[in-house]
Amino acid sequence: MARLQRRFVFVALLCAACSVRGAGPWQDLADDGLHDPAGPGIGVLQQPGEALSVLPQDGAGNHVHWVKALRDGFITPRHALADEPPPAIDTTEIIMRDTSTLPFVRFPHRAHTEWLDCTICHDRLFERKVGTTPINMGAILQGKYCGVCHGAVAFPLTECNRCHSVRDVPVAKAAAPP
Ligand code: HEC
Ligand code: HEC
Ligand code: HEC
Repeated sequence: MARLQRRFVFVALLCAACSVRGAGPWQDLADDGLHDPAGPGIGVLQQPGEALSVLPQDGAGNHVHWVKALRDGFITPRHALADEPPPAIDTTEIIMRDTSTLPFVRFPHRAHTEWLDCTICHDRLFERKVGTTPINMGAILQGKYCGVCHGAVAFPLTECNRCHSVRDVPVAKAAAPP
């Protein structure tokens, strides 16, 4: 039974991440439209507010700032099931300049490789050469490129400024290739 309960807690955490995505404060499971309020699990499952309110807060997505949660040691997720050496961290930043009138996009390798192995993105989602992947906003909104994760398991696409974050590089913009 204890084992079963632990499994429920885990499921509750996962569902917390999906059910509150995009809006509002944490809802109780009985009110989230996903769980059966009359079901036997409702008294056993951990409430999203209880689980997530102890982590660094954020204004969007599931209201947790996951990059801070990781860096400040609130969570220490396992990187593998077996006892393997930690994955490589890449600190290169890529500035993407084909952004029309919006600020350029800063893609930080560090914040991604702290969570993700290189092979998750290379070379299926992105080429290993700057400017060679035909990334554009329409495709992202359709769930491609950055949109494979952002809006699904990472902060939502409504947070334009988090990606379009490079505002004051007029010289670089003027010098950018057409
Ligand atoms: C997860 C990161 C991310 C978020 C969030 C995001 N964008 Fe983008 N956006 C990009 C990337 C990457 C490009 C392509 C840049 C390049 O190829 O140089 C892009 C390109 C664009 C372009 C240029 C035209 C085009 O179709 O590619 C526009 C306009 C744009 N975004 C608007 C927005 C708006 C408005 C929002 C918020 C509603 C937004 N973006 C949110 C990453 C993002
Ligand atoms: C979340 C996705 C993601 C992960 C994970 C990731 N990358 Fe990248 N990487 C990118 C994107 C996006 C680009 C730019 C592609 C483009 O502009 O066409 C890129 C570009 C590169 C480039 C080209 C840089 C240049 O100057 O031309 C190299 C090299 C690279 N990545 C290495 C790595 C390595 C090594 C790892 C693992 C330690 C890694 N990447 C993990 C998304 C990722
Ligand atoms: C394979 C999944 C994946 C892809 C693809 C991906 N991201 Fe992310 N991204 C994440 C995760 C996970 C985080 C950390 C959790 C969060 O902030 O929601 C993150 C965080 C970020 C951050 C915040 C960094 C910080 O310091 O707070 C930015 C900016 C970002 N991504 C931009 C992009 C852009 C631009 C692209 C496309 C070129 C992209 N991401 C593609 C998974 C992904």
